[in-house]
Amino acid sequence: MRIPERIGKYRLIAELGAGAMGIVFKAQQDVINRIVAIKLLPEDAERSDPALVKRFRNEALAAAKIVHPNLVTVFGVGKDAGFNYIAMEFVEGNPLDSVIAENRSVADLWAMCIQAAKGIAAAHGVGIIHRDMKPKNVMYDQDGLVKVLDFGIARIGDDAQLTKVGTIMGSPPYMSPEQARGDKVDARTDVFSFGVVMYEVLTGMRPFTAPDARQMILDRQKLKKPAPPVSICKPGIPWYIDRVVSKCLYGDPRERYQTSKEMLDDLLLAQYLLDSNKVSVTALPEACKKAAETSIAIPWKRIGRTCFAALLFFLLGISVMAPHVSVAFLITLLIPLLVLELFKALGLVKRFRDRQTEKELRAKQKKRAAAPSAPSKTGA
Ligand SMILES: Nc1ncnc2c1ncn2[C@@H]1O[C@H](COP(=O)(O)OP(=O)(O)O)[C@@H](O)[C@H]1O
Ligand SMILES: [Mg+2]
Repeated sequence: MRIPERIGKYRLIAELGAGAMGIVFKAQQDVINRIVAIKLLPEDAERSDPALVKRFRNEALAAAKIVHPNLVTVFGVGKDAGFNYIAMEFVEGNPLDSVIAENRSVADLWAMCIQAAKGIAAAHGVGIIHRDMKPKNVMYDQDGLVKVLDFGIARIGDDAQLTKVGTIMGSPPYMSPEQARGDKVDARTDVFSFGVVMYEVLTGMRPFTAPDARQMILDRQKLKKPAPPVSICKPGIPWYIDRVVSKCLYGDPRERYQTSKEMLDDLLLAQYLLDSNKVSVTALPEACKKAAETSIAIPWKRIGRTCFAALLFFLLGISVMAPHVSVAFLITLLIPLLVLELFKALGLVKRFRDRQTEKELRAKQKKRAAAPSAPSKTGA
């Protein structure tokens, strides 16, 4: 590809790397002498793939909508000398995958995950989905500041034109099952991919493996088995971190966090627990493992649905044999259901559940802190 010396008001200085959407350069902006990053699309992109150029422009449009400390700021988009380009904040740092080799503490890694989750939640808050969440798209600098970048295949709200069902976009190891199937995706796809990112950052391993990318996509399309809890890969990681990561990684989006805000709240709660009891957190890997296993694998919703269906069949049977009894049964069943629905509509059930989860978390944490065990300080 022919590389121009200048593009718009920017002088290209050095190549930073190449990705699926083009090449990224470090550049200097005239007049104000600002250092920026310029992402260039190949010169012939418009001719060979007009949809790609449209996506590229969407990237800029989507990202420029928000300014947040944990998101790379987009300065502008344009076309010059035959190249479509996007100008953005230059991040002096490394992509998140290099943090794995640094042997940092769990608390440190978790704090980085929280920053990234804040960026994601801010973008989701204005209706922008990333769709390509992976460690390479999260950078951190010397001061530990984390920024999510590359809304390369982002879409704005429900822009139907660019959400063609059947178009697979993203990186296989991080892809959500719905994305791997080419289904329509929503913000929960980022929750899944971010779950894979957190897993990898915490353990250096990926939750789901396959011999090649093709098999990875095929497996992902029908993902049923939960990932092994992170603490299995890296003993010493507390059970409440297991719980957060595992909840992101359900194959069925309905079982994941429904919003990144919910996910962020749980990340913050886990950080609170981590900070409030650093020694006991890392002292009981075996107990943590057990708690993590029990906390992720029970499909309560499915059990509930099955019981409900069995009850309906039972009622049906009775209504054939003794109609009076069935009416009494129906009334006793319907009234509590109606009351429950009313509570749900008022948001009382969610509030109650949230409070229960929080109580449960704190009680379990206290119990573990009190349990006699030889403390070890690895990972905190
Ligand atoms: N704003 C930026 N500041 C600094 N480096 C960047 C920036 N954007 C991208 N890069 C670097 O350029 C490389 C290529 O980026 P990209 O085209 O997004 O591809 P990918 O995300 O697939 O690696 C990245 O891996 C990153 O190291
Ligand atoms: Mg990128």
